[in-house]
Amino acid sequence: MKNQIQIFDTTLRDGEQVPGCQLNTKEKLFVADALEELGVDIIEAGFPISSPGDFQSVQAISKQVKRAVVCGLTRAVKKDIEVAAEALKDAQRPRIHTGIGVSYYHIHLKLKSTEDEIIDRAVKAVKYSKKFVEDVEFYAEDAGRADNIYLAKVVEAVIKAGATVVNIPDTTGYCLPIEYGEKIKFLKTYVKNIDKAIIAAHCHNDLGLATANSIAGVFNGVEQVECTINGIGERAGNTSMEEVVMILRQHKDLNYTTNINTKLISSTSQMVSNLMHMPVQPNKAIVGSNAFAHSSGIHQDGVLKNRENYEIIDPADVGIDKSSIILTARSGRAALKFRLQKLGHKFSEKKLDGIYDVFLDYADKQKEINDKDLSVIVKKFNQLVAV
Ligand code: KIV
Ligand code: ZN
Repeated sequence: MKNQIQIFDTTLRDGEQVPGCQLNTKEKLFVADALEELGVDIIEAGFPISSPGDFQSVQAISKQVKRAVVCGLTRAVKKDIEVAAEALKDAQRPRIHTGIGVSYYHIHLKLKSTEDEIIDRAVKAVKYSKKFVEDVEFYAEDAGRADNIYLAKVVEAVIKAGATVVNIPDTTGYCLPIEYGEKIKFLKTYVKNIDKAIIAAHCHNDLGLATANSIAGVFNGVEQVECTINGIGERAGNTSMEEVVMILRQHKDLNYTTNINTKLISSTSQMVSNLMHMPVQPNKAIVGSNAFAHSSGIHQDGVLKNRENYEIIDPADVGIDKSSIILTARSGRAALKFRLQKLGHKFSEKKLDGIYDVFLDYADKQKEINDKDLSVIVKKFNQLVAV
């Protein structure tokens, strides 16, 4: 039996916090629908107290979503919890996600509090949330930079108070994978009631390590990964959903599985990118426009002989028709032949050599050669040989 990893999507909350990414209720409903179809287990729909618009969106998503858990974020503040509970009241499977900062920075410099007071507030927030819903997730904000012994005390206290899930966020994206993995291992070893709750990873990408840290968490007992489509989120973003899902899927020997229908990854990525006006970088793993594009001669020759020579994922598995062979000045004859054949041209090897010389002349002057350019190149070659 494979180990099931729950996918908690926070595109509509941590992702939507990004300047310029705000969505209205109709757009949020559209995304929530797509997320449910994609197979995410939990949809973090928003932060209900943050604005009337967000409250309305969480309320509408709660009414619409049938299978996934719908989650609303709160601070460890009574009013936040009451408002979130109200927004979630029509959800089939509501979850309140409450929490507080637990690092030295958050306790002393942000909250101007003490370690004991924070535990007290955390416990009270969980207990108060339990009055409204059974499923309560606690986030230990900035756990990445928190002292592990203190963090263990917080985790034990909130589980005792009834938390069903405990989220260990690397809020500032500071941890190294080995450090984050050891943090989870420490909690799994020393928190005596840890088996009463699911442990979640919520990593940010400030050092480009969000996915690596989430996977290190999984290796050490995390059962829920919090992530966003295309990795959008505060600052450098959150853990990218498509990366985590495909890592676990491609490394079959690891024996993990998720409920994600990977064939919907590409279309969901494009939809989120369009609605949020947030372009995906071309070299982004899995969903970037170059993720399955081959442009150097050596790679093109290899991939045309056998796709797996240069691809570890079948593009069809993430909903992309096929890999693409891009023609640039770095391309070789095999790629040129392949693209010409697709246009219906068949040439002898000798003629292909001649066309390749004309092609290089054009390719050195422009970045990419498209089908229209290829027709011009063939015409030019025919003119040259006719002279
Ligand atoms: O990064 C973080 O710590 C968060 C919490 C609010 C869960 O987003
Ligand atoms: Zn976050």
